[in-house]
Amino acid sequence: MQSELSPDPDAATLLHVGIIMDGNGRWATRRGLSRLRGHEAGVEAIRRVVEAAPDQGVGTLTLYAFSSDNWRRPRAEVSALMTLLRFYLANEIDALVRNGVRLTVIGRRDRLPDGIANAIARAEAATADGTTLHLRIAIDYSAREAILNAAVRAANAGPLSRETFADLITGETGLRDVDLIIRTSGEKRLSDFLLWEGAYAELHFTERMWPEFDTDDLADALASFHRRERRFGGLTSIAPEVVPTL
Ligand code: FPP
Repeated sequence: MQSELSPDPDAATLLHVGIIMDGNGRWATRRGLSRLRGHEAGVEAIRRVVEAAPDQGVGTLTLYAFSSDNWRRPRAEVSALMTLLRFYLANEIDALVRNGVRLTVIGRRDRLPDGIANAIARAEAATADGTTLHLRIAIDYSAREAILNAAVRAANAGPLSRETFADLITGETGLRDVDLIIRTSGEKRLSDFLLWEGAYAELHFTERMWPEFDTDDLADALASFHRRERRFGGLTSIAPEVVPTL
């Protein structure tokens, strides 16, 4: 939940940013390239953003790589995306460890092709000690399904607060709510991404296609975020300890 509650003053200022990485296909077809080339260029953008995020005050970065609705895409594209994901998980480990990145994957694993669940487990284990950035990649992810699964588990769990229910949704203890959701390519939708964690997220929509998104675009999105006044339902920013437990 909100890290303002954290006793660690540094952790309290590090933001959780979510990105809906949209526009790979359009970027590629406008250049006469295959959609796969767009997704490959999208991986380059991921590298740029992961490297730049900690210096821009981001402590947690959640990237929407494959939604549960993306299974509806042509089989060849799904298969190409899965191959890219497997390569990324296998080949990126050294760079992630070197940069202090802890990788976790959210979403279903039981429908992923052979090898991917193992690649995820290996990448998560290898990067478990990273403290510079928590990188969360959403694969076969649906926020509604995450909330539904948590509700099923909560049914026998006795009384729950919002915070403990959130832990059931995210699979983590005390994950910070998402502060800012960025969507590229001009589309203005949440598409079943972080619906609980993003209840008070600021939204930033940019025309930039994901393959061309760079560190300046991330800085622009964060600058726009810092100009907003976040009231969390109050009249002005208010210290969380003043708010009674609901
Ligand atoms: C949206 O663009 C993008 C996706 C559905 C996939 C995102 C995947 C990557 C950036 C690469 C693989 C990820 C990792 C973590 C290795 P789109 O294809 O919907 O673009 P369009 O709307 O222009 O067609």
